[in-house]
Amino acid sequence: MTQRGVLALVACAAPPVLRIGELIGLLQEDGWTVCLTATPTAATWIDREALARQTGYPVRVEWRLPGEPEPHPPADVVAVVPATFNVINKWALGINDTLALGILNEALGAGVPVFAFPNLKARLAAHPTYRGNLAILRETGVVVTPMSVESSWTSISMRLKSSG
Ligand SMILES: Cc1cc2nc3c(=O)[nH]c(=O)nc-3n(C[C@H](O)[C@H](O)[C@H](O)COP(=O)(O)O)c2cc1C
Repeated sequence: MTQRGVLALVACAAPPVLRIGELIGLLQEDGWTVCLTATPTAATWIDREALARQTGYPVRVEWRLPGEPEPHPPADVVAVVPATFNVINKWALGINDTLALGILNEALGAGVPVFAFPNLKARLAAHPTYRGNLAILRETGVVVTPMSVESSWTSISMRLKSSG
């Protein structure tokens, strides 16, 4: 099996996160080492212990304490799946008030491929600030692929494989 490296997977509080374990299984079959970080809200929707067993790494939510080692290895690729309206807007503005946002913000300066898969209603997607913020992220090099009801985990894993 091809070893693809470490994928830092950031998960936000939108319904597809309830099935994030399925995506992780597919990514592992593709050869990724998956390290999961959840937003504080997403963390209340998922089974962190089961996902930690599945990935072999703690599911991170909180910042580490100063002096504590990094619980996850350095990422070769970063992906946010599903990405919420909230996280896309905060990320584009450089707001850094959760670990999930910290990972996404640092990824923009890390020289690694970064992917975002927003999952939101058309009404929210039409918000003028959202559209501008998505454009900022795209200009920075983030590969943005909106999720839809037809989106499959397979299409996401194919997209991530295109990173290298
Ligand atoms: C049942 C339910 C479904 C939701 N679906 C979405 C969604 O598809 N997309 C989205 O951006 N927000 C959705 N939200 C709202 C987010 O959960 C909310 O904005 C939250 O603050 C996002 O937190 P996070 O971005 O830190 O993960 C949903 C909320 C609930 C309760």
